[in-house]
Amino acid sequence: MERSPITRRKFISLTGAAIATGMTPIIAIGQDRQPTAKQVEGPFFPKHQQIDKDADMTSVAGMSGKASGEALIVKGRVLDTNGDVVANALIDIWQADNNGRYLHEDAPETSPLDQSFQYWAKIKTAEDGSYRVKTIKPAKYAAEEDWQRPPHIHFRVAKRGMRELTTQMYFANEPLNEIDRLYLEAPAEQRPSITVDVVKGEATFDIVLAKV
Ligand SMILES: [Fe+2]
Repeated sequence: MERSPITRRKFISLTGAAIATGMTPIIAIGQDRQPTAKQVEGPFFPKHQQIDKDADMTSVAGMSGKASGEALIVKGRVLDTNGDVVANALIDIWQADNNGRYLHEDAPETSPLDQSFQYWAKIKTAEDGSYRVKTIKPAKYAAEEDWQRPPHIHFRVAKRGMRELTTQMYFANEPLNEIDRLYLEAPAEQRPSITVDVVKGEATFDIVLAKV
C-alpha cells in the first residue's frame, strides 16, 4: 500500500534529523530493529506448577482479595527485527511482590507471601503481537547483603523460528538502576530497550526477538 505523502515526509524528516545528530532513528518503518537486551534468568523462576497463571497477577483464583502494592499495567508488542509483529509468542512473566518477596524457596526476602498475588503469569501474544498484564510494581529486594536489586520484572519470550529471549524490565528513574550489576551488564546503548516509564499506571514494554 502506498504511504500517504504526509507519512512519508514525516519519516524522511525524522530519519534526516536522526542522521544529522548521529543517532539511530527512533522510528524505523521498514528498518531493522535491535533485539531487546538479554538479561540473566536469575535464581527465582517459579519451581512449582500453579493453576492460575493468567494475565491478571493481582488476584489468585480461589482467593479473595487483591494483591497489595501499586497497580501497574504492562503492555506492549512482540516484534521481530524487521518490525513485524510476532503472534502467539509465549511469555513467562515473574516478579517479586510488594515486599520484594519471590514465590521461591531460595527467595532472599522472607516476608510472608502475599496470598492474593500471582507471582507468575504465562500468556501468549495476540494476532497483532500485543500482550497486556495487570500486576503491581515489584519492590526492591536484597539479593545479597550488600546488593539491593532495583524493582524489575522478569520476562522469557519464546516462539518457534525466533531466538528465545530472557530479560528483565526496569523502571526509569530508579536510583538503584545505576548501581545494579545486572542492569549495568547491558551495554549503555541497549539499556533503553529494557527500561520503561510508568505513565498513569501503565508501562509499555515492546520486545524484539532475533530470528533463528
Ligand atoms: Fe529478580
